[in-house]
Amino acid sequence: MLHSAPSSSFHHTTTLHPSPSPSLLSASSPSSSRHAWLPLRHFSFQTPPLRTHNHFALTSPKALKVNCSTSEPLKIMISGAPASGKGTQCELIVQKFGLVHISTGDLLRAEVAAGTEIGNKAKEFMNSGRLVPDEIVTAMVAARLSREDAKQRGWLLDGYPRTSSQAESLEKMQIRPDLYIVLDVPDEILIDRCVGRRLDPVTGKIYHLKFFPPESEEIKARLVTRPDDTEEKVKSRLEIYKQNAEAASSSYSNITKKIDGSRSKEEVFKEVESSLSQLQQSKGKILKSGGTEIQRTLDNLLTSFCSEKSILDTKKGSGSSSQDKWRGIPTRLNNIPHSREIRQYFYDDVIKATQRAVDDGKTRLKVDINIPELNPEMDVYRIGTLMELVRGLALSFADDGKRVKVCVQGSMGEGALAGMPLQLAGSRQILEFMDWGDYGAKGTFINIGSIGAAEVEEQDDLYILVAPQNAVGNCIIDDLRAMTNAAEHRPVILINARLKDLPGSSGIMQTMGRDQRLKYAASFESCYFFRLLYYAGTQYPIMGAIRMSYPYRYELYKRVDDPSGKEKYVILSTFLERPTTDEINDAFEGKPRNETRKGSGIWGFLSGIF
Ligand code: AP5
Repeated sequence: MLHSAPSSSFHHTTTLHPSPSPSLLSASSPSSSRHAWLPLRHFSFQTPPLRTHNHFALTSPKALKVNCSTSEPLKIMISGAPASGKGTQCELIVQKFGLVHISTGDLLRAEVAAGTEIGNKAKEFMNSGRLVPDEIVTAMVAARLSREDAKQRGWLLDGYPRTSSQAESLEKMQIRPDLYIVLDVPDEILIDRCVGRRLDPVTGKIYHLKFFPPESEEIKARLVTRPDDTEEKVKSRLEIYKQNAEAASSSYSNITKKIDGSRSKEEVFKEVESSLSQLQQSKGKILKSGGTEIQRTLDNLLTSFCSEKSILDTKKGSGSSSQDKWRGIPTRLNNIPHSREIRQYFYDDVIKATQRAVDDGKTRLKVDINIPELNPEMDVYRIGTLMELVRGLALSFADDGKRVKVCVQGSMGEGALAGMPLQLAGSRQILEFMDWGDYGAKGTFINIGSIGAAEVEEQDDLYILVAPQNAVGNCIIDDLRAMTNAAEHRPVILINARLKDLPGSSGIMQTMGRDQRLKYAASFESCYFFRLLYYAGTQYPIMGAIRMSYPYRYELYKRVDDPSGKEKYVILSTFLERPTTDEINDAFEGKPRNETRKGSGIWGFLSGIF
């Protein structure tokens, strides 16, 4: 039985309370008016002060935490090239869904119109079609998002993030959307749209001389053209967009909905509306049932929205990053060593799932990630990858102000019976030598220890156990149990544990108490699972993969080669529990779920999977 951490002892919520400047308050009224140019007086630009309820807060500046509870209203990001129709769609979304529209372009234009210090700084960048420096824009967005209306009604973030560093800022502040919409429009259309665009300074409405002419001569007479809407400036804005789009959007590849924005605005909105309505419905169900099951519904929905799991492909195949080569799950996983991007994909995936589980009060967790790069039996350098994963995970909790103990078991037994767990020799030393960041986290928020009750100290908040496993003749489970008993309600996370069998020193299976031990080992709940699938007895080619990221369902993927020869993973099915071999066989054979199965299918996957 899992225990829930009492909120007072573990659930720290770090909240940023910026003091929005008067100009921001007036510039970003929750109305749908995207281009409303309201008069502004002054702007105080400062890093918003931090208030934290966490007595273990780091001394480094901490981030705004917007809790992603399932009962929150919609949180949407919309992105696309200049004039792809973001503002036009935002007007319609706000009318229908009542979200708070936050457009960085509008916020900045309002500053410029008011002649504030910020506006004067931003003006020269905007007029020449360049991006305004990140720190200015990020402070504005953080201030606006922290306001009550955005929390209550949900938000629609337009034009932010536009660079990888803006995306990172959001990640640090733990601000994530439910859905990331990308409007995809060819360049030639974009230029036409920009050059013909006109704005009504009274209503904030967007017109186009050809596509959406003003309703009356009176309105026509007062329309204005944006200073950055000349053909030359549009081309330069487009270029800047292309340089940054991929990096800015890559964090959202799993929740990206790419929409063809070259169609009429009504057609585009129909698709946007349908996605948002479904999302809203799912969130409504979450509210009613208040449970994980509906999170899964939401996940399924996102899976179906984003079946392409697309990342922005603005360079149409000419990208420089290896991420261009995969969508969703990285490909070529048999090619090792893996690139930095592939490793990062898995680290991020594990970190997010584990964070969600801990935030939900889970305290006995395990991560199982089995890709060639993380299998130290094949090559000892791969223990380094495991350590990198553990470091990322530990620092992600330390960043939240938690004191993390990273534990590696040492040699077990004595004398001739001493045994070292496979590949763990020296890994504690590696952990000691690793770079634990700039804030002196090691020794304060990160401590290195071993496995056992004696390691549990009062100040610890959470334990990460690196590959705990039985050594010849010795069973780690007893130490583990003593440790978890001492840890009580504090989370203990096992990374790639190997607790299945208990070989005796003579090689004979030790059976005393085995059932109880295995039962205990099984009491850890999976918060992340990833495994590649092969034909039985082979490690080539990869046939598919199973992935589970808490609190979502197990996803079964098939690896396919598309006609251009590129490989990709296509989702076949999802499961509440880890699928059995039969279920996998059936899914690969395209059989319906409940059909009577043969004793063994044509797909005999590695028995090690289960
Ligand atoms: P911003 O105002 O955000 O400009 P943008 O991203 O270039 O986008 P646009 O506002 O030009 O176009 P849109 O996609 O909203 O299209 P719209 O709906 O108006 O940013 C301006 C500047 O601020 C930036 O260049 C930068 O300097 C700075 N900035 C902003 N955010 C920043 C950030 N995060 N970091 C740094 N700097 C930042 O439509 C365009 C036209 O097409 C209209 O006339 C419309 O009527 C028409 N139209 C729309 N949809 C259709 C359709 N389906 N069919 C036909 N016509 C259509």
